Amino acid sequence: MRKIVVTGGAGFAGSHIVDELCRTRPDVRVLVFDKMTYAGDVRNIAHHLLEDRIGLLVGDVAHLDACRRAVEGADLVIHAAAESHVDHSFGNSLEFTRTNVLGTHTLMEACRQAGVPRIIHVSTDEVYGEVMSGAVDEQTILRPTNPYSSSKAAAEMILRGYIQSYRVPILIVRANNLYGVRQYPEKIIPRFLCHMLTGRRLPIHGSGCNRRHYLSTTDFARAILFLAERGEVGETYNIGTEEEYTNLEVAGIVAAHFGKRPEEVIDHVADRPFNDARYSISWSKLAAMGWRPENRLRDDIGRLTQWYSENLNRYSDLFGAPA
Ligand SMILES: NC(=O)c1ccc[n+]([C@@H]2O[C@H](COP(=O)([O-])OP(=O)(O)OC[C@H]3O[C@@H](n4cnc5c(N)ncnc54)[C@H](O)[C@@H]3O)[C@@H](O)[C@H]2O)c1
Repeated sequence: MRKIVVTGGAGFAGSHIVDELCRTRPDVRVLVFDKMTYAGDVRNIAHHLLEDRIGLLVGDVAHLDACRRAVEGADLVIHAAAESHVDHSFGNSLEFTRTNVLGTHTLMEACRQAGVPRIIHVSTDEVYGEVMSGAVDEQTILRPTNPYSSSKAAAEMILRGYIQSYRVPILIVRANNLYGVRQYPEKIIPRFLCHMLTGRRLPIHGSGCNRRHYLSTTDFARAILFLAERGEVGETYNIGTEEEYTNLEVAGIVAAHFGKRPEEVIDHVADRPFNDARYSISWSKLAAMGWRPENRLRDDIGRLTQWYSENLNRYSDLFGAPA
């Protein structure tokens, strides 16, 4: 059986990659390698752990010995572990550099030593920085603007060195904002849903006019496995969607699902120290290979609401008692 390692597999996006692997690849063993930070939750993969072909190794991607143990004999490593929340990165940027830059470097060194034949590194559309109009392709210069996106861009620079100098077979993917079940409610969509479910108002950073594209994590996981098979080593692929909304529009979609108008439920709060007005990537390279997103936020909002309403107790530290 082929061994596939998913770092950060107990987190949000990583656990959906694990789902997609288990659903579509009966011939693989999956090892989740995860430090289990606040964002990792064993319940995200619990539904697979009873199967013999899934394992969990708790460890830190910044520790070489742990990485060596994880990637030994691996046929594919999908690197999704990261500190991922921009707001935290402003106050805690060294931790972001430690995990996202040193951790990625350490994992790649272990992969190089073990001769892993294929690696997918999960990066983000935020590495391009603000894109005020149109959409940027994979050749565009990186201009990150916050400690999170800077650490993701720095990690990519380390990978370029590994690709060129050591011929380590790495593919890089840069994805839009993701949405789906099991996302920690620090991110906008689950946060708004949990606020509505607990009778709280929706906090909007600044004017609320910042725009983001929202890609279903199911589509994202499909794209990752698609590229694992059809992508070219050394290449970078944007993974995107046409689903673009301002923060106010996201609040409107959530509020409407609860039968409210946005002005009835939103509060404007202080903005981030720096808040990119817009990100926008062209994913025509991936589309030309035959991949397309299939899901839309508006269609998925009912399913998401149902899941967060059934799993609110997971987040009792954030939303203990209804307000
Ligand atoms: N969520 C998004 O909207 C989005 C969009 C584009 C790209 N990405 C990228 O996708 C990847 C996954 O993001 P996510 O939203 O699932 O993040 P997440 O915060 O939900 O999960 C991150 C996971 O990584 C683990 N982790 C953190 N530090 C670790 C360490 N030092 N060693 C091992 N494991 C560690 C955590 O325990 C957690 O399980 C990240 O690389 C992120 O940059 C996310």
